[in-house]
Amino acid sequence: MPAWTCTRHSDRASRVSAYGRPAIRSDARGALATLIAARPRVPAIRPSARALAWIRAVLFVSALVPLARLFALGYADALGANPVEFVTRSTGTWTLVMLCATLSVTPLRRLLGWPWLLRLRRMLGLFAFFYATLHFTTWLWFDQWFDPASMLADIMKRPFVTVGFTAFVLLLPLAATSTQAMMRRLGRRWQELHRLVYAIALLGVLHYWWAKAGKNDVAEPFVYALVVAGLLAFRLVWTTAGAVRARRATPPSRARAPGRPGRRRP
Ligand code: HEM
Repeated sequence: MPAWTCTRHSDRASRVSAYGRPAIRSDARGALATLIAARPRVPAIRPSARALAWIRAVLFVSALVPLARLFALGYADALGANPVEFVTRSTGTWTLVMLCATLSVTPLRRLLGWPWLLRLRRMLGLFAFFYATLHFTTWLWFDQWFDPASMLADIMKRPFVTVGFTAFVLLLPLAATSTQAMMRRLGRRWQELHRLVYAIALLGVLHYWWAKAGKNDVAEPFVYALVVAGLLAFRLVWTTAGAVRARRATPPSRARAPGRPGRRRP
């Protein structure tokens, strides 16, 4: 069990660090550590390679259900009075759902202690891109008829379209660098680049909110805003708590001694 999840150790650490330095835990940091330590205890599920392949296959098929539904409704001529609007809205919603699912992999992996969840993240991210491409193509093709002047006019006239467009453009480098080879090639920079997914999700929510604000109907965008804010908050809390743990674990020789000025960075 990691030291910070052990109550006895944490109690001691709140007063004196493992190396005898005065504790650096402030009330806020203590609250963070307590919050994370209170994570649910769930069974350590470790699927075999075969089981994981099945989980991936089920997820893949499930993620295609919204598209199959659109085809089925289209075939049955049941896309409503405005089929283009129906398809735009459906693909937009699924883009946002897939973005939220991608962002929830890391919190779930950490809270449940299931590292294999990470193996599903790329697929979810690519499905977000897939639905975003369908969403964008619907607008480009059936709304704008590939007319650059009309596209430009719409982007200028409706700011929420500009925001959606920005989110889509930001998704492009993430999709392009989603392969294992690119991950190896970019190293640390890959992680930095892929943090853009938080900005994309925020822009997606803003786009949705803006589109609905004109109709005074922001209940659903509000739910997505809460989800994205919660996921972002989890990341900030986890990173801060990690920095606190790292500081505590630093041997005193490397830490700045009291009264001795630290070396200034150039
Ligand atoms: C990551 C990128 C994007 C996300 C997450 C996203 C998400 C959404 C969502 C959730 C909706 C509302 C669905 C509903 O009303 O139920 C929507 C609507 C819409 N989006 Fe996007 N979108 C994105 C990119 C784009 C792009 C690139 C365009 C076009 C350039 C675009 C154009 C539209 C339009 C025209 C609507 C319809 C608004 C309405 O009339 O109600 N979106 N989008």
